[in-house]
Amino acid sequence: MTELVAVTDEGPVRIVRMNRPEKKNALTMAMYEAMASGIETARQNPALRCLLIAGAPTVFCAGNDIGDFLKMAGADAGLGTQILRFLYALVRCELPLVAAVQGNAVGVGTTMLIHCDHVVASNEARFSTPFVSLGLVPEAASSLIAPRLLGHARAFSLLVMGRPLSADEAKSAGLVNTVVAPDAVEAEAMKAARAIAALPPQAVLASRRLMRGQPDEIVARIDTEAEQFKARLQSGEARAAFEAFMTRKR
Ligand code: COA
Repeated sequence: MTELVAVTDEGPVRIVRMNRPEKKNALTMAMYEAMASGIETARQNPALRCLLIAGAPTVFCAGNDIGDFLKMAGADAGLGTQILRFLYALVRCELPLVAAVQGNAVGVGTTMLIHCDHVVASNEARFSTPFVSLGLVPEAASSLIAPRLLGHARAFSLLVMGRPLSADEAKSAGLVNTVVAPDAVEAEAMKAARAIAALPPQAVLASRRLMRGQPDEIVARIDTEAEQFKARLQSGEARAAFEAFMTRKR
């Protein structure tokens, strides 16, 4: 079976690639675990200087697997330990995080980017977080960080109204650094990762720590969102939205 998440090291750069293109890289519990592990274990290899999160040529990530949401709703479960482990790994990661985004970045596909240090996007990329139309609330501390990053009005439009951002809009909103043609995304992201990796590593780590501060506030918000997310998963609004997606006619 093909690995649903491929973790490979290219010199000082670790690439964590979502690899379920037939389902638009919708994330399963096993994928969250594999991504968390890829991020967490990077610190055990002193040769690594930077992480690059990537998707497939036509899609970055369609968010959480909605079939899994439906199962969680039926099992009276919340965001599972796998999802939380991935989110904590992102927040507690010491190495700089670069992302290469092509196609759609939906839900956690977008919210994981607010934890990245440098984002390269294709000019066709699209960023959306349809949490509320699915009967849910934002996650990954996006309810805390997105208003700070984008300003309240733009964050409300994205997180609550579910209005997508184009690559250019995401760039002017401060979520994306560079917008390039689809076939240049991976090379441009790798170039940025290698440039970061070439800097004095201890100075990079110290500077990044200073800029990010203590992760406690962010972790606390992830936990608060997770409580509300659990309650929302059990709601009639959410179940109806999940069932509508899973049974939609195309
Ligand atoms: N969960 C489960 N399956 C998903 C999925 C998700 N989040 N996103 C896509 N898929 C599946 C589709 O059901 C479809 O499966 P099938 O071929 O077995 O029918 C396959 O992936 C391809 O998706 P499709 O919708 O045909 O691709 P598209 O290019 O037309 O649209 C998206 C891509 C991402 C815009 C669309 O799939 C979508 O909106 N997905 C849901 C995103 C979402 O709401 N995520 C949760 C965020 S909290």
